[in-house]
Amino acid sequence: MTPALEVCELTAGYQGIPVVHELSFSVDPGSVLAVVGANGAGKSTTLAAIAGLLPVLGGAIRLLGRDVTGRSAAKRARGGLGFVPQDRGIVRRLTTEQNLRLLPGRLDQHLSDALRLFPDLTPLMGRRAGLLSGGEQQMLALARVLVLRPRVLMIDELSAGLAPRIVEQLLDVVTDVAHRHGTAVVLVEQHAEMALGMARAALVLSHGRLAVSGDAADVLAHPEVLESSYLGEFHDAST
Ligand SMILES: Nc1ncnc2c1ncn2[C@@H]1O[C@H](COP(=O)(O)OP(=O)(O)OP(=O)(O)O)[C@@H](O)[C@H]1O
Ligand SMILES: [Mg+2]
Repeated sequence: MTPALEVCELTAGYQGIPVVHELSFSVDPGSVLAVVGANGAGKSTTLAAIAGLLPVLGGAIRLLGRDVTGRSAAKRARGGLGFVPQDRGIVRRLTTEQNLRLLPGRLDQHLSDALRLFPDLTPLMGRRAGLLSGGEQQMLALARVLVLRPRVLMIDELSAGLAPRIVEQLLDVVTDVAHRHGTAVVLVEQHAEMALGMARAALVLSHGRLAVSGDAADVLAHPEVLESSYLGEFHDAST
């Protein structure tokens, strides 16, 4: 099976200085990959580079078997890459409906798809996105990306600031879409246990490098591995 997303020796960073080093991984259609790691490990940098929002300093990115390394973010999005960034990527001063209007394609189709996925958005169509609760904003953020039917969906910190019950509800929608449409999902999370619990594969980043990768269940079964890659040098210094 051709992986939906293949990242080969990716090096990325800011002003030419790498913070993510030679990172390689792939995600198959319909599979969920959890990417976990401490604050500053390079999770968001990795996703931004894959999305085309940050120049790649080395390596290659293949989407559905095609090399997109030199392509713009817009071309990658049109090629089937969906990205929900850490700040959710919604326009706060526009209403829920206007946020969906910004998308390419048919608005009526987008509206009905969004409401099918997240019926709770129904009474919120006329409300400004900035006034929505955290959970409602995340629903809108997910809806904006999901109605475009991405083949690869990357979500940065879906759970940040949300109640566990809402997180569960949102993740149910994401896993359901992955199963039904064969979407490959990359789930970046600081809440490692939750992400590992629902993913097939896992990758732990530490200081911009791959610390551990394998079956999510195996990583979950070895909390000491997870802990040492999280604590890293800080752990050494404190003992
Ligand atoms: N715009 C930027 N300019 C320069 N350095 C940056 C920039 N954004 C992030 N960094 C640095 O890159 C490193 C990785 O940051 P990144 O945001 O990718 O980490 P993260 O794993 O997503 O962390 P968190 O869990 O806190 O979201 C950090 O050392 C951070 O300070
Ligand atoms: Mg981040």
